[in-house]
Amino acid sequence: MSDMLKKLEELKIVPVVKLDRASDAKALGDALCRGGLPVAEVTFRTDAAEESIVTMKTEFPNMCVGAGTVVNVEQAKRALNAGAEFIVSPGFSREVTEFAIENNIMIFPGICTPTEIMAAMEYDIPVVKFFPAKQYGGLDTIKALAAPFPSLKFMPTGGINAENIKEFLACNKIIACGGSWMVNPVHIDNKNFNEIVRITKEAVDLVH
Ligand code: 3PG
Repeated sequence: MSDMLKKLEELKIVPVVKLDRASDAKALGDALCRGGLPVAEVTFRTDAAEESIVTMKTEFPNMCVGAGTVVNVEQAKRALNAGAEFIVSPGFSREVTEFAIENNIMIFPGICTPTEIMAAMEYDIPVVKFFPAKQYGGLDTIKALAAPFPSLKFMPTGGINAENIKEFLACNKIIACGGSWMVNPVHIDNKNFNEIVRITKEAVDLVH
């Protein structure tokens, strides 16, 4: 298993971040680090993603910063140039997957069916993102999907929170869970980063 995967497995939670302003990236990175979760999946749902990744990596070199919601090669290129250490896609794209492999960056393609898993496995992908996890049947579906693919691990995201994360992490097919509950945009907009530290600490205590 790569060092990156080991780190995510140790941390157990990957905060899924959506930043409207890159100027909030430093304070958010600081809050996550202070909360004990030095990792972020910065989603390309906003134009601030690229600059936010640069800021987090520059300000917190030990933080593990990846790019999320990467839906095409152009975004994957921008993520890589910004210093992202991993790429997460909501679905499976051969082009994005091939780009990641060629450029030696870890990719977690999104899947929710055996057919998509088989496509990912053609590229020897070790860990897939199961998305949206809650809506597609949660843990029961992961266990059923895992059965025919014994070597495959999952990083579920979507509808995971403090109430249900322990249930997911108890499954040995799951290396970590993605979630956005500790990075609520309301707290970011209100610059209430201490609240983000508090919720992050609570999440970390819960899973360790
Ligand atoms: C994602 O992009 O992975 C999800 O939207 C995050 O899901 P959540 O907001 O339900 O945690």
